[in-house]
Amino acid sequence: MQYAYKQEERKRVMTKSFVVLTASFRPKGNSAQLADLLISDLAKKGCAVKRFDTAFLRLTGCHHCDRCYQTGKACVFDDDFNPIADAIDKADAIVFVTPLYWYSWPSSIKNVIDRFYALYCGKHLFKGKKAALIAVCGDEAKEDPFQGLVYSFDKSIKLMEGELAGHLLYYGMPSVEVSAFDFSPQKETRVIVNGKADRV
Ligand SMILES: Cc1cc2nc3c(=O)[nH]c(=O)nc-3n(C[C@H](O)[C@H](O)[C@H](O)COP(=O)(O)O)c2cc1C
Repeated sequence: MQYAYKQEERKRVMTKSFVVLTASFRPKGNSAQLADLLISDLAKKGCAVKRFDTAFLRLTGCHHCDRCYQTGKACVFDDDFNPIADAIDKADAIVFVTPLYWYSWPSSIKNVIDRFYALYCGKHLFKGKKAALIAVCGDEAKEDPFQGLVYSFDKSIKLMEGELAGHLLYYGMPSVEVSAFDFSPQKETRVIVNGKADRV
């Protein structure tokens, strides 16, 4: 039984390729540690992972020049966005790992999300790709500081025709619950409070 489960679990994640987008400017911060854990977990399961630490990349925002995919690449600007666009095109799943800034996205990853405009206009949509959100915040209270972030994430993934895999939302100091997260087809939200995961 245990063996059958393991085989099934292996089959589910095997050969999957992931793009992991981190957002924090703190290379050893809470969300970076979660990204490390996630990636080592995925590697153990045989997945291929491409990680982009957006805070340390050269990225402008979208200039709305509407020249998307007209010059043989996603965006006319030659900063670090086009390699991300190519990796996403090839990936089975995208995981966004971010701290909450002002109830929303940090500028680092927001620049990438804004540049998804090129993917949208060029019809390089997220069809058949799963997308998950892992977010941390400083707030200890359970008054849903993540509402804006989750709304933006869900609407954007839906617009891009991706499949919502779920959210992992950490209040206060995060614990090491990342490997508990699975990329099952149903949309799932869990809230982690002091290391205890409650499905909501
Ligand atoms: C510019 C800035 C804005 C923030 N805004 C919020 C916020 O709106 N709500 C909240 O609960 N925490 C907020 N925080 C706290 C961070 O989300 C929190 O410390 C998080 O764990 C940092 O993650 P990191 O270590 O991965 O950078 C903010 C922190 C910064 C620096």
